[in-house]
Amino acid sequence: MTGFSAQWLSLREPADHRARNIKLRQEMLQYFERTQPGLGKSTNTPFRIMDLGCGSGSNLRALAESFPDYQHWTLIDYDPELLSAARTTLMQWADRAEPENAAGASNTTIQINKSGKHITVSFVQEDLAKNIERVLSEKTDLVTAAAFFDLVSADWLVRFCLSLSVPLYTVLTYDGVEKWLPAHPADESVLRAFHSHQITDKGFGLSAGPGAIEIMRTQLTARGFDVRMQRSPWLLGSEDQLLMQALATGSANAVAQTNMVSATELTSWLTARMQSLSCEIGHWDLFACPH
Ligand SMILES: C[S@@+](CC[C@H](N)C(=O)[O-])C[C@H]1O[C@@H](n2cnc3c(N)ncnc32)[C@H](O)[C@@H]1O
Repeated sequence: MTGFSAQWLSLREPADHRARNIKLRQEMLQYFERTQPGLGKSTNTPFRIMDLGCGSGSNLRALAESFPDYQHWTLIDYDPELLSAARTTLMQWADRAEPENAAGASNTTIQINKSGKHITVSFVQEDLAKNIERVLSEKTDLVTAAAFFDLVSADWLVRFCLSLSVPLYTVLTYDGVEKWLPAHPADESVLRAFHSHQITDKGFGLSAGPGAIEIMRTQLTARGFDVRMQRSPWLLGSEDQLLMQALATGSANAVAQTNMVSATELTSWLTARMQSLSCEIGHWDLFACPH
C-alpha cells in the first residue's frame, strides 16, 4: 500500500478544500442542472457519486453541500483503516448520522444529514489497480477523485479512460510545480530528485506523476469527452506551518531514498524548509463529460 495516514489527510484537508477551483466546480454543477435537472431532487432519484481513492472522505466533505439534496456516495479505497476513518469522521461531521437500518443493516453503509442534504454513504474496499474496469461498470452519475490520479501509471490511465462512460470530476492532481520561499540553493536538485521518486511504482506500475493530467486530457479528448481543466494550487502561508513542515519532511524522506542529493545538502534544505514563509504546490482540477 502507498500508506497515506489519516493524520496526514486530515492535516492537508483545509488546504485541499481552499485550493479547489471554484469556477470548474460551478461548471460541473451547471452541467448536471442542465442535462439532468431532476437528479438528486427526491429520495428515488439520488445523485450517485463514486469517489476513487477516498481516503478519509475529504472529497465528500468538500462537495456534498453544493450537490443536490439527495445523494448516494460510494467511497472506494483499498486501505481498510482509511475506510474506517472515513466512516468515523463523516459521522462526526454530520448534523445527524445513523447506520443504515432494518433489512439493509450493514456497517458498510451509513445515512447522514448535513446542512439539509440527505446523504447515503457506502464504503467499499477495492484495489483499483486491479479492478478499475469492474468498478467503472457499476451504475453512477459521476466519478470523482481527489489527490489520486498522480499515483497511477500511464497504462492504468489508458485503461481508466477507455472504461469511463460517465462524467469525471477530479481535483488536486499534482503537476510538479513547487515554489518555496525563501529560495534555497538545493531547491532545484531536491525537486528533480522528488520527481524521480514520484514516478516510482505506487501499486499501479510506474506512476505518471506530474504527467498524469495531460495523459487524461489527451485520452478523454480522443474518446470524445469535452474536457475542461483549471489550476488549483496549494498556496500555503504562515497559517499552514504544520502542513509545510510535514510536506518538507515527506519530500526529504522521498528524496533521501533516491540518493540523488547528498545528505549534507538535503539536511541543509530541510532545515531551511522547516522555517519556510510560503510555498506554492501546483495542481489541476479536471471535469470531463461525454459530448
Ligand atoms: C493522496 S490520498 C487522497 C485521499 C483522499 N482522496 C483525499 O483527498 O484526502 C490517495 C488515496 O488513494 C488510495 N489508494 C492508493 N492506491 C490505491 C489502490 N490501488 N486502490 C484503491 N485506493 C488506493 C490511498 O489509500 C489514499 O487514500
